[in-house]
Amino acid sequence: MQNKLQELKEKQAKALEAGGKERIAKHHKQGKLTARERIHFLVDEGSFEEIGMFVTHRATDFGLDKQKFLGDGVVTGYGTIHGRLVYIFSQDFTVFGGSLSETHAEKICKLMDLAMKNGAPIIGLNDSGGARIQEGVVSLGGYADIFYRNTLASGVVPQLSGIMGPCAGGAVYSPAITDFILMVEQTSYMFVTGPNVVKTVTHEEVSSEDLGGASAHSTKSGVTHFSCANEIECIENIKQILRYVPQNCEESAPVYPYEWKAEEFSESLNSIIPENAQQPYDMREVIHLLADEKSFLEVHKNYAENIVVGFALIGGRSVGIVANQPAVLAGVLDIESSKKGARFVRFCDSFNIPILTLVDVPGFLPGTDQEWHGIITNGAKLLYAFSEATVPKITVITRKAYGGAYDVMSSKHIGADLNFAWPSAEIAVMGAKGASEIIFKKEISSSDNPEAKLQEKTEEYTEMFANPYRAAERGFIDEVIEPKTTRAKLIKGFKMLENKVANLPRKKHGNIPL
Ligand code: HXC
Repeated sequence: MQNKLQELKEKQAKALEAGGKERIAKHHKQGKLTARERIHFLVDEGSFEEIGMFVTHRATDFGLDKQKFLGDGVVTGYGTIHGRLVYIFSQDFTVFGGSLSETHAEKICKLMDLAMKNGAPIIGLNDSGGARIQEGVVSLGGYADIFYRNTLASGVVPQLSGIMGPCAGGAVYSPAITDFILMVEQTSYMFVTGPNVVKTVTHEEVSSEDLGGASAHSTKSGVTHFSCANEIECIENIKQILRYVPQNCEESAPVYPYEWKAEEFSESLNSIIPENAQQPYDMREVIHLLADEKSFLEVHKNYAENIVVGFALIGGRSVGIVANQPAVLAGVLDIESSKKGARFVRFCDSFNIPILTLVDVPGFLPGTDQEWHGIITNGAKLLYAFSEATVPKITVITRKAYGGAYDVMSSKHIGADLNFAWPSAEIAVMGAKGASEIIFKKEISSSDNPEAKLQEKTEEYTEMFANPYRAAERGFIDEVIEPKTTRAKLIKGFKMLENKVANLPRKKHGNIPL
């Protein structure tokens, strides 16, 4: 037995060597952690159990039969984060550049199958040169096996992707199907084709970082939800996201112990809306005053900043927040912000996370650029997502709620459970001046002083419609509330709704306007 134990220990030590000291040193020199170091920082201490440590590839071409590394370039296993079960795969760049072989893919698939059967999140730490070039189509098949499982797991268990190095070619489509992508600045990139192909095809000269680095994908494409200064920050963000999500779609969203405090009434909310309705204010300030202290985790922070989305705790309860941002483009809804909001709403609804919607929106952005790029289809995504969401939904209109955007932003009509408005709310078909120019056109043009007439009519319209009371009379607004009481109303409201049951009509699946 002693000999056998010795053999086991030697094999384990060999597996831990990964691609060898030299390759590890080169990897560290680039400011990157190894696959196992990443797992160490991710999980609760001592909780990680590895699966498949001795797996090797089966390829023989190109002399690969003489080059075998235990584990074959990916560390897979399970552990806990905040005491809750998670499944992790972490690609090891020091072994064949983390490239994906048949067996490497099989290890990931085995893990995903376990995660699905046992209902726990899957975290993928990606650092790979893509398909194992020596294996050809077998490797492509391995990718497809993973993509397929990513799709089946979508909406069943949360899937998070940390991009810690290269992620190129078709390999990008696994993270793309997952719920959240987190990228590390300067050391990670994602693209379908790299700078060389781009140069050949489009004659553009662009670096990897500019083409598909964290900055490009967190600001321009929206592919990544978090841009992280370094790997540790990336790992911390993964852990943070998990605080707000349940283990799977059958569980309720987390609720943490919370004691009611006197300071639930935030006086400063009463003065946060500027006197002049055209003046911006920062909706993030409102969010911070409504959420439990320091609990707001913003998602997609630097992308489509005219809408703010993220997780927070309200009275200890995990909620997803979707909020127009009047400080950017007056909070208008455009293509990007509609897509951003819709994706987040759908995530929350998949995983039973209640939604708080804060509304200050002047409408949809006009113009040829928006129309020709499909504001109709894309705006409809947000409408569809809110309508389809059956989780508890509370909406607060802080100021403007104009036109179609009023309907879209989780109005009563599309299934919100509680709709509040502040006294500063303006709920109407359009802004008072524009409305007056249309409906009083003749009266204004025939007047001796058209400007004064327009002013008079605008004031008349404002008086009549730029308030929340017409909507409250109809019951479209449940209550007009003093802003400082909002947090207390939300705590009570979400508690009241915690056992909500709402079912969609029987169907295979809907057909969201993609
Ligand atoms: C096999 C690979 C590999 C790959 C890297 N290596 N990529 N081995 N298959 N795809 C190996 C290298 O041979 C080297 O081995 C080690 O990994 C480190 O690679 P380096 O080139 O020395 O590292 P670096 O300079 O940091 O460059 C990293 C890199 C580059 C940019 C990722 O290696 C690269 O361009 N690789 C090829 C990328 C690629 O074209 N992949 C296929 C994409 S198509 P040694 O033994 O020297 O340490 C694709 C299709 C997926 O993936 C389709 C899914 C549907």
